[in-house]
Amino acid sequence: MKKKLFLVSLVGLMLIGGISTVQSHNNSAPNFECISCHGEEGSAAIKVEGMPKSYVPGKTYKITLAVSSPVVSAGDNAGGFAVEASAGEMIVVDKKNTQLSGGILTHTQEGSALRKWVIGWKAPAQKTPVDISVMAVTANGDFSPAGDMVGAEGYTVKSGK
Ligand code: HEC
Repeated sequence: MKKKLFLVSLVGLMLIGGISTVQSHNNSAPNFECISCHGEEGSAAIKVEGMPKSYVPGKTYKITLAVSSPVVSAGDNAGGFAVEASAGEMIVVDKKNTQLSGGILTHTQEGSALRKWVIGWKAPAQKTPVDISVMAVTANGDFSPAGDMVGAEGYTVKSGK
């Protein structure tokens, strides 16, 4: 009887542990809407390089994503991001600093020390316009969502021939 109770509480603890890791946001974003918790302080600018205007079906693109704002980080965390695409596939090209979480590409704990990341997107096989949405945070490193700035950008990538 006692053993069973112990097991139940152990599983319970593991569940809570698991959930709190997901919610530790300097290690991946909890959900796409950074702005719902961060960034009442103004907005950050997002810059991408390598985002195609039109894509070749099935091709993987390497895209550099950078976020900037006047916010200075005084701690370990300087930034974070999330990217999702309406079609195709988000690809991890930098395992140390980026990861997939529920179809969304986001930062890892190491990656939250950065404000620039290299991400991958594999274009879909079918020829359809794709919306790629980006959200990124410039963090002040105080381990809270206060005092950070958020930027949001959307890109529409058309299919080539
Ligand atoms: C549900 C609320 C919530 C959402 C949504 C959210 N965050 Fe956070 N974020 C927090 C909280 C709370 C903390 C501080 C505790 C922690 O790190 O777990 C935090 C901390 C951070 C930090 C470290 C901040 C610092 O100054 O040290 C970064 C970076 C970060 N989040 C990025 C993101 C990004 C990028 C997104 C969206 C893609 C996002 N967060 C969405 C609540 C949220």
